[in-house]
Amino acid sequence: MAFSSFKKVFSLLSLAALAVLHSSFEVVSLSVNDESEANALLNWKASLQNQTLSPLPSWTLFHNNATNSSINQNTSSIPCSWFGISCNHAGSVIRLNLTNSGLKGTLHEFPYSSLSNLAYVDLSMNELFGAVPIEISHLSKLIYLDLSFNNLSGEIPPQIGLLANLEVLHLGENQFNGSIPQDIGQLKSLNELSLFTNHLHGCIPPSLGNLSSLTDLYLNDNFFSCSIPVSLGNLSNLAYLYLHDNQLSDFIPPKIGNLSNLVEFIMHNNSLTGPIPSTIGKMEKLTLLYMHENQLSGSVPSEIGNLKSLILLSLSSNNLSGSIPTSLGALSNLTRLLMYNNQLSGTIPKDLGNLKSMNELDLSFNQLNGTIPNSLGKLSDLEHLILRYNQLFGLIPQEIGNLMKLKTLQLGTNHFTSILPENLCQSGSLQYFGVENNHLSGPIPKTLRNCTSLIRVRLERNQLFGNISEDFGVYKNLQFMGLSYNKFYGEISHNWRRFPQLTTLNIARNNITGGIPLEIGDLVQLQSLDLSFNRLVGELPKEFGKLTSLTKLILNGNKLSGGIPPELGSLTNLEYLDLSTNRFGNSIPTNLENLLKLHYLNMSNNKFNLNIPVQICKLAHLSQLDLSHNSLDGEFPSQIDNLQSLELLNVSYNNLSGFIPATFENMRGLLYVDISYNELEGPLPNSKAFQDAHIEALQGYGTVYKAELTSRNIVAVKKLQSLRVGEIARQKEFLNEIKALTEIRHRNIVKLHGFCSHSQHTFLIYEYLEKGCLATILSNDGGARELDWNKRVNIIEGVAHALSYMHHDCSPPIVHRDISSKNILLDPDYEAHVSDFGTAKLLNQDSSNWSSLAGTYGYIAPELAYTMKITEKCDVYSFGVLAIEVIKGGHPGESISILSTMEENLLLKDWLDIRLPPPTLEVENQLILIIKLAIACLRANPESRPTMHMVSQVLSTPSAIIS
Ligand SMILES: *[C@@H]1O[C@H](CO)[C@@H](O)[C@H](O)[C@H]1NC(C)=O
Ligand SMILES: *[C@@H]1O[C@H](CO)[C@@H](O)[C@H](O)[C@H]1NC(C)=O
Ligand SMILES: *[C@@H]1O[C@H](CO)[C@@H](O)[C@H](O)[C@H]1NC(C)=O
Ligand SMILES: *[C@@H]1O[C@H](CO)[C@@H](O)[C@H](O)[C@H]1NC(C)=O
Repeated sequence: MAFSSFKKVFSLLSLAALAVLHSSFEVVSLSVNDESEANALLNWKASLQNQTLSPLPSWTLFHNNATNSSINQNTSSIPCSWFGISCNHAGSVIRLNLTNSGLKGTLHEFPYSSLSNLAYVDLSMNELFGAVPIEISHLSKLIYLDLSFNNLSGEIPPQIGLLANLEVLHLGENQFNGSIPQDIGQLKSLNELSLFTNHLHGCIPPSLGNLSSLTDLYLNDNFFSCSIPVSLGNLSNLAYLYLHDNQLSDFIPPKIGNLSNLVEFIMHNNSLTGPIPSTIGKMEKLTLLYMHENQLSGSVPSEIGNLKSLILLSLSSNNLSGSIPTSLGALSNLTRLLMYNNQLSGTIPKDLGNLKSMNELDLSFNQLNGTIPNSLGKLSDLEHLILRYNQLFGLIPQEIGNLMKLKTLQLGTNHFTSILPENLCQSGSLQYFGVENNHLSGPIPKTLRNCTSLIRVRLERNQLFGNISEDFGVYKNLQFMGLSYNKFYGEISHNWRRFPQLTTLNIARNNITGGIPLEIGDLVQLQSLDLSFNRLVGELPKEFGKLTSLTKLILNGNKLSGGIPPELGSLTNLEYLDLSTNRFGNSIPTNLENLLKLHYLNMSNNKFNLNIPVQICKLAHLSQLDLSHNSLDGEFPSQIDNLQSLELLNVSYNNLSGFIPATFENMRGLLYVDISYNELEGPLPNSKAFQDAHIEALQGYGTVYKAELTSRNIVAVKKLQSLRVGEIARQKEFLNEIKALTEIRHRNIVKLHGFCSHSQHTFLIYEYLEKGCLATILSNDGGARELDWNKRVNIIEGVAHALSYMHHDCSPPIVHRDISSKNILLDPDYEAHVSDFGTAKLLNQDSSNWSSLAGTYGYIAPELAYTMKITEKCDVYSFGVLAIEVIKGGHPGESISILSTMEENLLLKDWLDIRLPPPTLEVENQLILIIKLAIACLRANPESRPTMHMVSQVLSTPSAIIS
């Protein structure tokens, strides 16, 4: 396409050349020079990419006299009559103005050598791209070059420095990179240099200080670094100096004060440091001084007060300290004074009241103290007064009410006391009114009703009081209303049509009573509603369903009741929903699944019942789900796994039962899981995400919790499953046994302090052992390394003593039934304490099958597969497994069966925990002894296993046996 149109232009050109030859006899004035200038220009035109509308249609050698008699052009006017071209008397091109002409192409074919008289070139605002060729230097008569607002790239050719007549060089808004060529400093005639908005970097060359004619220097919006060259102070004609949005650093050279003709000095958003030089006070013509967003420090020089022409002074977002010089009161032309976000201290000088032209005064985010001077009431043109985040105190002066044009009054986060000015809004101009976070008390002045233009009102965090339904007027434009943390009372108004534009309403933490009126549905623009921590009662009106723009709905801490209206499912933009700590009941509505943007859902502390609806698991963005403290029952939905963004899951204090079928595998951000106080059972999910999470109530999971009775008395509490009718008789029998167990005292047995029993549950209260269970310690490398060989031998001995005591020193003997590493708890000295003695049969009972198998898979004696007869020898077998596990550092698994056959030729090293250094010879002998005993305990025939008494004896006197 491009190629064929290019060819077309080319053939037209050769035709044109013929036509010129034909007419050359008749037209005397056509010089050779004209011809070559025209052809050269057409050549360049041909190199441009033709768009649908070909650019420069007048650039042609043909004349269309026949169809338009008013154009009576003869060839002598070529190319001087062409669009954008001007010639001198001799008919040679001196001026080319093609600004904004839709040109798209490069400057490579530009006729540098042919247009020897060209003085003025304006190609700005086109789509030129590519580099500027060094041949640009052939245009030796060039005075004016404007290539700004194109897509030119590459480096600026240093040869530009050869254009000795150049007065104006505009290269702004391109994509030039590299640094500024030094050579530009040779352009002695240059008045205007604009290089703004490119990708230029490096230092600003000091040679620019040689451009003694320069009036305008625009270097803004590049990546210039280093300091501002001192030599710029030589540019005594400079009127406009734009250095902003670069990476300039270091001090501002005081010599810059010599620029006594400077009108605009703009250097914001750099990394300039050090003080503002006081010499700046010499730039008496200055109207704009922008120094914001640097790291300037020190105090504001009072000499700035000499800059009588100053209209705008912006020093904000620096590190300026000290007080505001009173001399600023002399800047009678100043319309905007912006000093926010510094470290300014002291008081606001009353002289600022002299700044009669002032439109905007922003001193926020400083450390100003004292009161607001009454004199500010004289700033009759003031529209914006912003003093928030200071340490101002006292009354808000009544004089502020005289500011008839005031649109913004932001006084938040100070220490203002007392009431609001009575005379606010005499003119009704106020749009932004913020006095949040002060010590204002008393009622809202009635005059606030006159502020009919209000867009934003912020009164939160004061001690304001008053009847919420009476104190506000009709605000047709109001968008934001913040009233939280005050003492407003009364009922929420029914007349929400007064605020048709309201997007944010926050009345949290007041003393609002009554119900939520159904007229709330009139606030159709509402995006955020916070009514939390009031005394609201009644049901949620179904009109909530009309608030489809809502993203945040916060109603927690009230006494709202009833079911959640299904209409809430229409709020499809909702991201944050907090209904917690109310009296809501019934089932959680399944159509919450429509709230696909929800990331926070808190329904805790209510009376929701039935099961967790699986539909909730469709909320793919949910990161916090809190359903704790309800009466939810049924099983845990495995679809919870779909909630891949989940960080917190809290379902504690419900009646959930059964296993956790979820794996939690895909939840990379999971931080907290709280499943305590339910009736869950079975193994915990073993996914990494689940293990990494901070899991509440992991101690024994589901049924054991740590309970702090008093700060010094910590116990472990274990809940027995509730019994069914018909099993109650047996319960009594077991409770008698438990009573007996509470009397047992042995250093290796976890103390059972007692039990408590009521109609639903029975709780066993144990000694709390802070090191937790052996299984957990062995499963983590750090814990395992901590547990050296001596500690491990000691643990095995401890368990053996405990079992021996229960089997042989108690009458009747007490069988544990569930010895495993999960039931061995350790105290701070790593001493073993066997837990759940004698209660295993209670704890593991499955209420549907009373006599089901007790014990933990992998520790159960083989005979239990064919007989239900539980004897002490079952514990002996489990002990054998446990002893091997402690030495090996993990459950031996299938290799138990090999073990029992290799009593004779045992290789110790195959059974040692590789995470520990090899044992000493003495310990090695002990370990061999333990393994031999363990192998004996693992014999298939219960009769041939040793008793725990024997095991305990052998372990206590090892040397006697080894030989
Ligand atoms: C700001 O100035 C204070 C002294 O007024 C100084 O201690 C502090 O380091 C400065 N901070 C920065 C970021 O320059
Ligand atoms: C609040 O004002 C309304 C309307 O004037 C009134 O009906 C209500 O009783 C007032 N409430 C309180 C607590 O004063
Ligand atoms: C809330 O209002 C009731 C009367 O309606 C009053 O007794 C109570 O003290 C108020 N509470 C607060 C915190 O202001
Ligand atoms: C879970 O909820 C309970 C009760 O609402 C609360 O006490 C507990 O701190 C919560 N757990 C987490 C991890 O947030």
